[in-house]
Amino acid sequence: MKVLVIGTGGREHALALAASKSPLCEKLYCAPGNPGMGQIGENVNIKADDVKGLADFAQNNGIDLTIVGPENTLAAGLADEFLARNLKVFGPTQGAAQVESSKDFAKSLMKKYDIPTAAYETFHDLESAKAYVLEHGAPIVIKENGLKAGKGVTVAMNIEDALEALEIAFAIEDNAVVIEDYLEGFEFSLIALVNGDLVVPLECAQDHKRVGDNDTGPNTGGMGSYSPVRKITPELVNTTMEAIMKPMAKALQAEGVPFTGFLYGGLMVTEDGIKTIEFNARFGDPEAEVILCRLESDFLQAILDVMDGRKPELKWTDKTSHGVVLASTGYPASSTKGALIEGLEDTDSLIYHMGTKGEDGNLYTNGGRVLMLVNLADTLEEAMEKTYADLKHVKSDALFYRNDIGRKDLD
Ligand code: AMP
Ligand code: GLY
Repeated sequence: MKVLVIGTGGREHALALAASKSPLCEKLYCAPGNPGMGQIGENVNIKADDVKGLADFAQNNGIDLTIVGPENTLAAGLADEFLARNLKVFGPTQGAAQVESSKDFAKSLMKKYDIPTAAYETFHDLESAKAYVLEHGAPIVIKENGLKAGKGVTVAMNIEDALEALEIAFAIEDNAVVIEDYLEGFEFSLIALVNGDLVVPLECAQDHKRVGDNDTGPNTGGMGSYSPVRKITPELVNTTMEAIMKPMAKALQAEGVPFTGFLYGGLMVTEDGIKTIEFNARFGDPEAEVILCRLESDFLQAILDVMDGRKPELKWTDKTSHGVVLASTGYPASSTKGALIEGLEDTDSLIYHMGTKGEDGNLYTNGGRVLMLVNLADTLEEAMEKTYADLKHVKSDALFYRNDIGRKDLD
């Protein structure tokens, strides 16, 4: 098979690596790819949001399967364009991708189909949103409506922070916000391969969304992860599948926007049962890096099976994976580009490129999240030790990382 992976980050590097290991993969293209993906496939210089350009490429090069990484590409209607041209694509249509691109759409579906989540209201103007916050009190959660790369959410522990978040949100023209009740509990991510009402869970992982140690500071796209999550037992996964993942796939089907692709559940175990924090229409990042490296069976065969309506045989290693993101100084508010990165050859970790640029044989930072180092070991403790030991070898004066990734599963 000729396979095309769309995207440029660490998630796409992980998807490309998993695809490249399949005996079915004869040729792998990545568009636009990154320096890490360039080592396992051929990078093609077409932007991830150039829907027509990507469809032309797939058509002209006889691509047998396209796997989509980023949400923006899906929200731009890539799958719709591919399907209209009879090109095989694993990723939801624009309509189905609303489960991520519109918080309001996702929340109203959860309400309509009784999928457990925090109570909420949607607001289109600053004044009524402020009035609601003042009446409701803190803690409270403010979520901007569209795609925000994990950064449009403010968990406000006091009224002042909530009001400030609203000011910022409504400074953007035509914005809307969802304001929801604050939930407390243990978070995890469950990603499933979905086609209509066929929903096949992968192993779960835990992301670390806050920028600072001990979950402090603003939310990011994710600063590190590990898989499996010991606290999430097979029973809890089963409950999540029956109460949340399968009902959402069915709901999308019933609404006339059936979902094909990776459905991501952001979940929380609360005193009141498992609740949905959010759905995403694609694999998680940094979840993909720690989940897919544990898959021992054929990734492409699994996707083909699901697309044909068959449940695939998935085989996972018992080992635990653990990964830490190196981010640019200033992330998530800002980020530096063009800083030299050295020392990667002195590590034994799996290295995923999230935002790097290669030039003249050197590697440079090129975005907010830059690299992720991942290790597999018999225990989480051992994997953590390996990752943190290796991080010391990476030399750059413009990168930082969290020191406590994985700690929560040890308590
Ligand atoms: P989201 O982008 O919706 O996943 O939100 C980002 C992060 O904000 C989540 O991973 C949670 O840590 C936190 N968060 C979102 N919604 C809530 C909520 N209702 N209660 C508490 N924390 C939340
Ligand atoms: N790691 C969270 C996300 O991919 O949305």
